[in-house]
Amino acid sequence: MTSPRIIGLDQGTTSTRALVLEPGMPPRIVHAVRHQQSFPQPGWVEHDPLELLANLRACLDAAGEAEAIGLANQGESCLAWDKVTKQPLSPVIVWQDNRTAGMVAALTAAGALTETLARAGLPLDPYFSASKLAWLMTELPEVKTAHRAGRLCLGTTDAFFLHHLTDRFVTDVTTASRTSLMNLETGDWDPVLCDLFGVPMDCLPAIQDSAGDFGRVAQGPIRASLVDQQAALYGHGCRVPGDAKITFGTGAFALAVTGQTIVKRPERGLLPTAAWRLAGQTTYAVDGGVYDAGAAVEWARQLGLFADFDELSAFDAPPAIARGLAFVPALSGLACPYWDRSAGAVWIGMTGGTTRRDMVQAVLEGVALRAAEVIREIDRQLPIAGAIRIDGGVARSNYFSQFLADVLNRDVLRMDFDELTALGCATLACPRDITKPFVLRDSGRLFAPQTGEGSGWTSLFADAVSRSQGWRR
Ligand code: G3P
Repeated sequence: MTSPRIIGLDQGTTSTRALVLEPGMPPRIVHAVRHQQSFPQPGWVEHDPLELLANLRACLDAAGEAEAIGLANQGESCLAWDKVTKQPLSPVIVWQDNRTAGMVAALTAAGALTETLARAGLPLDPYFSASKLAWLMTELPEVKTAHRAGRLCLGTTDAFFLHHLTDRFVTDVTTASRTSLMNLETGDWDPVLCDLFGVPMDCLPAIQDSAGDFGRVAQGPIRASLVDQQAALYGHGCRVPGDAKITFGTGAFALAVTGQTIVKRPERGLLPTAAWRLAGQTTYAVDGGVYDAGAAVEWARQLGLFADFDELSAFDAPPAIARGLAFVPALSGLACPYWDRSAGAVWIGMTGGTTRRDMVQAVLEGVALRAAEVIREIDRQLPIAGAIRIDGGVARSNYFSQFLADVLNRDVLRMDFDELTALGCATLACPRDITKPFVLRDSGRLFAPQTGEGSGWTSLFADAVSRSQGWRR
């Protein structure tokens, strides 16, 4: 029998990480490497595709041979490349990138929202891949040339990596569901949507199940590939309707399982999405995002508001919001439930006595208050069963986790093990049940609500959010 080792590769917005699962051993990260973030113009965010690919290869080399490999990708980020040479024809345009705001506004004015909502289940926003791929088609001469020559590949980062690593031009249903080009009911590319955005359907990868045959690399077969948020949902042990998690990475993304039901046109800006498709059977979820979570905290660090992440674990003063100081972390605009890219980040309530420490506290609270808005929306529709599960860098702050529990007035379970994306794609890749011990359903620290003041803070924060909206219009 081959080695029962399983590898989970998490190719995320800021880093690429390799996790190894072996029976009888705790799951462990064997390699992690950060990559360059490029901001060539205001609102533009790019990655170098070849740098990401080299980082993935380095992760595979460090992890060694395995029975199965799972790959998680950063969602909506996408690019163009040459079908024959496989060389990139563009940078990766990252999910945060807002360069297509004008195109999206024009599509909205032309009434395209009805089609995207009905077919992809998604609102019109530069976040999704469709307008980014359309931008590549219209703005880059080398992309046009490749298209004319019948050599153009367009796709999300997973398709680029798999094409290079295993020579398969494929994606999975979860990643395709984030492009706004896939029909959520059929799980196929939608000709009307492709036409609407001007993305040639024959340049897109084939869509397959999230677990299955994605080809082979030297280390073993790739048996799973899906979006990182969906992988984290699986890694959290969320399986049945009402199970929910929120991951505080660069952004914060809450997903709740809805089972075989697509929540059609969920209220208040939640997104129906594919959670995973296994043996042809799709499980769906609803998703709500906050664009800036870790990104806002890192921004505060770069401004010099604090130096070390240890400084975020406790604060002596009462919550900043209780003292009338609020920060709305809309550095890249507001996603769920507002979908307002023109919103600006806002500080409100500062006095001559406001300190750096107060400002840091308000940044953490602003991320928690925005996340709470999203979680409340999900809960209103489903509802969420039991504690809300959290993970990710910002969630390591005890202050943050307790504040979130207080704002939501519900239990928050912070997982002890923090590599849930890599764990999720590794367990999905596993062809046998050797990974059962690694499903960490309830192993974590529970934060129970301690104050009854959450609702007052929520309405004060809602006032601050309303002032942030439309600012850059
Ligand atoms: O929608 C974008 C999201 O999937 C990115 O997640 O963890 O790479 O910041 P992450």
